[in-house]
Amino acid sequence: MTLSDTLPGAAAADSRPGSEWWRTAVIYQIYPRSFADASGDGVGDLPGVTSRIDDLQALGIDAIWLSPFQRSPQKDAGYDVSDYCDVDPLFGTLADFDDLIEAAHSRGIRIIADLVPNHSSDQHVWFQEALAAAPGSPERGRYIFRDGKGENGELPPNNWESVFGGPAWTRVTEPDGTAGQWYLHLFDSSQPDFDWSNPVVQEEFRRILRFWLDRGVDGFRVDVAHGLVKAPGLPDYTPDPHGGSMGGDAAEVPYWGQEGVHDIYRDWHKVLAEYDGDRALCAEAWLPTVDITAKWVRPDEMHQAFNFAYLETPWDAAELRTVISESLRAYPAVGAPSTWVLSNHDVVRHASRLALTAENPQGHGIGPDSPGQPEPVLGLRRARAASTVMLALPGSAYIFQGEELGLPEVIDLPGDARQDPTWFRTEGERYGRDGCRVPIPWDAAAPAYGFSPTGQSWLPQPAEWATLARDQQVGDPDSTLSLYRTLLAERRAHGLGAGTLEWLDGYGDDVLAFRNGDVTVISNIGETPVELPTAELIVASEPVSDGILPADTTVWLRSI
Ligand code: GLC
Repeated sequence: MTLSDTLPGAAAADSRPGSEWWRTAVIYQIYPRSFADASGDGVGDLPGVTSRIDDLQALGIDAIWLSPFQRSPQKDAGYDVSDYCDVDPLFGTLADFDDLIEAAHSRGIRIIADLVPNHSSDQHVWFQEALAAAPGSPERGRYIFRDGKGENGELPPNNWESVFGGPAWTRVTEPDGTAGQWYLHLFDSSQPDFDWSNPVVQEEFRRILRFWLDRGVDGFRVDVAHGLVKAPGLPDYTPDPHGGSMGGDAAEVPYWGQEGVHDIYRDWHKVLAEYDGDRALCAEAWLPTVDITAKWVRPDEMHQAFNFAYLETPWDAAELRTVISESLRAYPAVGAPSTWVLSNHDVVRHASRLALTAENPQGHGIGPDSPGQPEPVLGLRRARAASTVMLALPGSAYIFQGEELGLPEVIDLPGDARQDPTWFRTEGERYGRDGCRVPIPWDAAAPAYGFSPTGQSWLPQPAEWATLARDQQVGDPDSTLSLYRTLLAERRAHGLGAGTLEWLDGYGDDVLAFRNGDVTVISNIGETPVELPTAELIVASEPVSDGILPADTTVWLRSI
């Protein structure tokens, strides 16, 4: 069932150019294993999501992005898919998925599914067939197998490194027991990369898209959308040591952002256009500039791309103004909305990240001995101020589960609890991403804070999270949850997602001030208190009195 089937008028709205839902939507990322566990095995699941759908409706979101729930051995928390057209038993069944779609759609909430096209699991039937087949066979041709270098092929075909650390190639043992070819995996060795120049791979993904579109999904978040095409000849490349591991290097990288990926999304665009209801594609593409990222959302390609340039901008007024201005120039220039995002399952949560005092490249994570530890009170204050800026910006915004509770990164996870392949592949040198993936707290007094009826939790939850549980925040007007609810309601009431931003000057170098329609936003990013104009207060990220805006605080005022 699509949303147009359930909401009168939705189908009519689809036909108005420029009014598609994804242009302005607030999209809530659910990381299913950490959201709500109905089965009690300590891992969240789809019935758990359905059971909490009213809480999400009360929050005021427009759509859900569901991180992977397809069948997977879970070597990379589901980003290693062994069957693209089934639900992993850990998360439930296809019937549970249908129930979730129905529960969401009947409340006017859309669902975007994660799609992982760069690589499969090594347990995918295609990869198992490739291992059993000979070099040069069609089975191997669906992945990137190459002979090794050196006298006996004992060296990898090139010097590429895995995003998770270590080499990007693994050598196989041929069916006759001899050491054989190597296969490429930009991520873990359990995640072999597909060969996207192969029409068989292209056709299979058209089938997968249609499978989920037929089931009613409203779109896809496309994993590693900048990585599918590799440069011919697979030339050596040594990444920038200061860059994040997912891309963003200034130099051209032979496995990120190759021109050929755009043909794939033009093709997918046509597949989505076969369906009603403005189905959308959102690119996870870590690229060096907003102008390059905007290529992913040209009119015949994807609809949205995550604005990682914004996510990676430090808490600095001038830098924020620049990235916001560039985004609002570059994306609309190709007919797309800008998106905004501050947290997800791959980065240090912004309630901690915005108070880090040392460099922390994306994907490295933080642990107890990392330099530049964040001060929690400052981090939360900045996070609330930053979210209050983000949710006033025109375009579409992404929220990561738990940020509406002000959850910080969990820094002191014990080593034996950690599960991110990054932690293992770097032998603990990089902590990886587990700290942002800890199951979220619902009820302070319940086992596992209401995450799971048995009290189990696949990652341990910190004792301090009792005070952050949803039931503790829901009736407290000063809580982070109440702040988010107000922001989302006012954003909708004032049409900010569809608005236009106009910068306001004169508040000082450390202040971000702009007008979006009838809302004026002033954010004090510096330390000196700022005098506010006399105007009606709509919402404030911290209490404001006597017309003075304290440090690390954002307000929305009614424009005069
Ligand atoms: C994306 C996902 C990340 C995953 C990787 C490999 O970056 O967001 O969680 O590990 O792709 O699929």
